[in-house]
Amino acid sequence: MSQKFHFICRKCGERIEGFEQWFGNQQKCPKCGDSKINTVYSTDKNKLRELLETNVKPDSLWHYFDFLPLNDRKNIVSDGEGASPIERWEFLEKYAKDKYGINNKVFISRNDYSPATGTFKDKGGTLAASVLKENGIKEYVVVSTGNTANSFAQYLAKAGISATVFMPQDAERENFVHIGSMGQKVYIVKGDYAFAKKVAADYAKNNKILITLGNLDPLRLEAKKTSTFEIIRQLKKMPDVYIQAVSGGTAPLAVEKAFADFEETGILGKMPRMLFAQGSYCDPQVVAWKKAVANNFPEGWEFDYPIFENPKTLVPTIATGNPGLFPFLGKLVKRTNGDYFSIREESAVDMGRLVAYEKAVKIGPASAIGILGYFEALKHNAIKDGESIFINMGEGVRRSLSFVQELSYTIEEITSADEAKRFNREKYRDFVWKPFI
Ligand SMILES: Cc1ncc(COP(=O)(O)O)c(C=O)c1O
Ligand SMILES: [Zn+2]
Repeated sequence: MSQKFHFICRKCGERIEGFEQWFGNQQKCPKCGDSKINTVYSTDKNKLRELLETNVKPDSLWHYFDFLPLNDRKNIVSDGEGASPIERWEFLEKYAKDKYGINNKVFISRNDYSPATGTFKDKGGTLAASVLKENGIKEYVVVSTGNTANSFAQYLAKAGISATVFMPQDAERENFVHIGSMGQKVYIVKGDYAFAKKVAADYAKNNKILITLGNLDPLRLEAKKTSTFEIIRQLKKMPDVYIQAVSGGTAPLAVEKAFADFEETGILGKMPRMLFAQGSYCDPQVVAWKKAVANNFPEGWEFDYPIFENPKTLVPTIATGNPGLFPFLGKLVKRTNGDYFSIREESAVDMGRLVAYEKAVKIGPASAIGILGYFEALKHNAIKDGESIFINMGEGVRRSLSFVQELSYTIEEITSADEAKRFNREKYRDFVWKPFI
């Protein structure tokens, strides 16, 4: 029986003793059968204060072992993920100053540095592999639009656990080959993400194999919770505004969980205002939010969201057409006085070029949508003078070859030195800024 942590069913309040019981019951509450649980720790919460005051850069998110649902450190399967640097990007601040006369500080989470797969999904990957190893699980099912699939497949491979991965057919192709190359199994499901989820769930059920439970799965949520700790450790103070491209919503729900867990200690300060961005071809949460705002939040507004079937999107990584967790995310946005923005997906390339030009950092399309969320928020007066902004940038460009090809604009073929001209990169400054001026 686990003493370090236990679970409480979010629906009926039943106590579940730990993963042995949870996995043994096929990830369902023994009393009501629901699959949404909350993780509760018995560790003294003030211990977090010490962990945040360290002067040594943590090796990984396992710095927060005391607040993660693993019993024995010897089961940790890690690749140095989760303590990614948070950087101030001054060109984004200057943009706000020059265009809107607003002074703010903009912090970017460099999850693209994550050693395993270059995305913030590596946080869930390390925790999932470690917990599954601790519990003697040998086979696992993953369904994802790409990044979670990659990360889980890699960490499970490292732990010697077989991963059967289901992805929708429009996922970035590189995902399939990266996973396939590690000897983990890939099924490309002919249909959208919602359909891939159904096929994966049926497969897992028929074969009695454990499967990722989605955005509230403790294996993902508890790992992502550490991002909030890292903000405080690195910046010493929670920024006023949190911006992210949202799909299912694991990362912001994990911020909420961190605040809920440590509320009485005051360690994390005030919850930031949540500003969420979605790609314009798959933005059901934006549509639902706008409707709720227009109708002044009528009773049950949070359950009134559209379902986009087979969305044709340029950013499949964040295309959740059936936003089952809108009831949680919408309420989070409302509670923090936040907002939702729909982002023109064609602009992702422009943003990718701008960031690569200004910072020499190659971001992925989902990250571009997040940063465009900041630009959109400025345009809608949703950021005030003097505020600090945190952008949870989720990915580098490692698995989006088509996107990086589109970013490029300097390539020329020649046959002699005479054809090559002297080069000064300054001449491209106007070009990369033009879409945003
Ligand atoms: C790079 C990137 N950004 C954003 C998201 C959205 O994450 P969330 O589950 O927090 O909505 C994802 C995952 O789907 C992602 O891979
Ligand atoms: Zn229950």
